[in-house]
Amino acid sequence: MCGIVGYVGYNQATGIIIEGLKKLEYRGYDSSGVAVLSNGKIDVRKRKGVIKNLEELIKGDVPVGTCGIGHTRWATHGTPSDLNSHPHTDEDLTVAVVHNGIVENYVELRDDLIKNRGVQFKTETDTEVIANLVALNYAENGSDLEQAVRSAISIMRGAYAIGVIAKDTPDKLVAYRKDAPLIAGKGDGENFIASDIPALLQHTQDMYMIENNEMVVCTADGIKIFDSNGAEVDREITEITWSLEDAEKGGYEHFMLKEIYDQPAAVRETLSQRLDVNGKVKLDGITLTKEELDSYNKIYIVACGTAYHAGLVGKYAIEKMARIPVEIDVASEFRYREPIIDDKTLFIAISQSGETLDTLKSLRLAKSKGARVLSIVNVVGSSVARDSHDVLYTWAGPEIAVASTKAYTTQLICMYLIALYFADLKGEIDSEYYNHIIEELQAIPDKIEKVLECTSTIESLADKFYDRERVFFIGRGLDSDVSYEGSLKLKEISYINSFAIGAGELKHGTIALMEEDTLVIALATQDFLFEKMYSNIVEVNARGAHVVSLTKVGREEISQESSEAIYVPKCADEISPLLSIVPLQLFAYYVARKRGEDIDKPRNLAKSVTVE
Ligand code: F6R
Repeated sequence: MCGIVGYVGYNQATGIIIEGLKKLEYRGYDSSGVAVLSNGKIDVRKRKGVIKNLEELIKGDVPVGTCGIGHTRWATHGTPSDLNSHPHTDEDLTVAVVHNGIVENYVELRDDLIKNRGVQFKTETDTEVIANLVALNYAENGSDLEQAVRSAISIMRGAYAIGVIAKDTPDKLVAYRKDAPLIAGKGDGENFIASDIPALLQHTQDMYMIENNEMVVCTADGIKIFDSNGAEVDREITEITWSLEDAEKGGYEHFMLKEIYDQPAAVRETLSQRLDVNGKVKLDGITLTKEELDSYNKIYIVACGTAYHAGLVGKYAIEKMARIPVEIDVASEFRYREPIIDDKTLFIAISQSGETLDTLKSLRLAKSKGARVLSIVNVVGSSVARDSHDVLYTWAGPEIAVASTKAYTTQLICMYLIALYFADLKGEIDSEYYNHIIEELQAIPDKIEKVLECTSTIESLADKFYDRERVFFIGRGLDSDVSYEGSLKLKEISYINSFAIGAGELKHGTIALMEEDTLVIALATQDFLFEKMYSNIVEVNARGAHVVSLTKVGREEISQESSEAIYVPKCADEISPLLSIVPLQLFAYYVARKRGEDIDKPRNLAKSVTVE
């Protein structure tokens, strides 16, 4: 996820673009940059880090020109650095490109450009491939920028939105959308493009919503939109009446709700790039060989909070699929129990921010004792990522709300991919089962969308129970792992005393707390444990508890023992946490909202915990 902005008009472009980028910093802040058409040349300035760094760079020497493009980056291909920052150009600085998304076949395209066209690449990005493709086509098409962009995208695969300017095409910018957001803003004698509405609201409320496979051509006088066949499209203007703050949250009331709704796309992004055309797992950033994997006699998974809960599912997946023993620890405890670590240990760290000090210090301890360190991280170039031997990124995009949602589901995807990859390397997995799990994973984004269609049911439940003082979450197997995460979500944003426990463990003490009307959320999505879980529900019901069950479609018999039931689509037991967590996230959100809490910034908590 990155943010792009483009401007053409009668004002100086740089300031307008930078102000627009600031409104898109939520989409990434690894670097930012601008390219402006300036006296027949392209003036590019870019800098690693937040936009303030770019402002520092150009202070006293602002690029001059009335047509330009800008970018704020969430790094995917290539570490955050000045060099990898956008805009990118061809070698001769004929065109400049900003890009949000991923070109899946960039390696193939780059190799072809190197071998057959003698192009020399300077950066690690996929975007530099686009710049060179457009530039070559531009030279061959008599400087027809629209045609050059069209030819380039005809051989690019992936999901992206791009903005392009060319040195010999003054006062025009061309943009293209394929599966990544893009809008165009209509002003008076000036026009704009951007990844999202907040970037333009200061200048205009009149926006064109660009559809997939459409090209936008902006000049100071007008905006033209073309479909994939090059035919001009007659698009109506959408008048945006949101306030700026509403717009930054994409129209959602809170970042947390937006991020819950981001999950189908985030999961799709994290998964689809890691499957080859034959549906086999291919893990970028992990170089582990079969011999190396065979040499490890133990895996540790270490993380904190929500990431730890993702690790619980990861332990289950690796042990079930790859048959390698896994120990899991919360990072704040790991270092203080003298763990047995040597060069036969594989250490897996999970962290959204990549800056959690407990996780980082555990990782460093493991590394100092000879362990191989693999991490699952969301923030590219963060400390955990930098200190690891192998990194698998969760391409969730920036997570702003303190309560983690889309980071969790994308961490789960990475854990399943690692489990399948290890199982395959070790030759431990039957190919039919492997293919079945891959197919089930591929169906998950659509199924999450189905769960989200039932948001109003969850909101009604929240309306009913929001004033409870305590809530119990119970489940067995993977459902108990999801219970911990559901309970954490509720307590951290609603401040309700919520408690999660494996349902089979209730009888060893906690059932003493069950009394008339105690609220129990019972997860029963594991088919092979359904009967056992059903008995646990009967037990708490017999003590007068008010049971809200969460199960799969087809298990309607659960309603006989439950006051309410929530159903998620059918899926393989092994991957049900990807679906069952979503109603629990929504429940926590709506309960906190009904209680009037500050959902995105809960008390006493921080997004990145850099203290012990
Ligand atoms: C809960 C939450 C925290 C984090 C934990 C680890 O919603 O966000 O429990 O999961 O602080 O943070 P990262 O993943 O950044 O290491």
